[in-house]
Amino acid sequence: MSGQSHGNEAPSEWIRHMLDMHAGAAVDAIDLASGFGRHAYLLTNKGLSVLAIDANPTVADELQATNIRFQQVDLELELWPLEGVEADVVVVSNYLYRPHLARVGDLVRVGGILIYETFGVGNEAFGKPSNPDFLLQDGELEICFASRFDTLAQFFGSVSEPKPAIRGRYCGRRRV
Ligand SMILES: C[S@@+](CC[C@H](N)C(=O)[O-])C[C@H]1O[C@@H](n2cnc3c(N)ncnc32)[C@H](O)[C@@H]1O
Repeated sequence: MSGQSHGNEAPSEWIRHMLDMHAGAAVDAIDLASGFGRHAYLLTNKGLSVLAIDANPTVADELQATNIRFQQVDLELELWPLEGVEADVVVVSNYLYRPHLARVGDLVRVGGILIYETFGVGNEAFGKPSNPDFLLQDGELEICFASRFDTLAQFFGSVSEPKPAIRGRYCGRRRV
């Protein structure tokens, strides 16, 4: 899914809340498809060691003067490109690539948490993204991760902030 987001944009209040509630013991984190790092900044400000991953090489310039590490990775290669990479917290925001969705769970260390938030089916009524490939089905994340994660929170529906949209949200703790 294409699009850009700058590090000085406000992070998601729901992601902030999930971190406050569930990430107390975490040491390190991955911001997957980070854009310019609004959640990477949130994570580093919480004292976590952060790896931001995105296909856009210019993210490196944005994060250069910070202690956020950056890896330029194409997450949509046929073979999953992050074999063996893991962290206590993985945040995914406004990104969906179904062929590797289950592999995102591999990035979470056992005992760690996955926090995932993106647009859902029905969002086409509000504008972009409207391509069904980029829109979650209701319950899709929970079903995808159920065999390895305990659900801590989930939501699917309309929101008014920061703009009217259909959002899907999932937070789970990896058990196996
Ligand atoms: C809508 S932005 C979301 C950025 C950030 N997560 C946020 O919420 O602010 C989507 C991000 O996915 C990245 N992206 C798109 N296709 C990608 C791919 N094949 N591999 C890695 N990153 C990709 C884009 O570069 C962009 O930064």
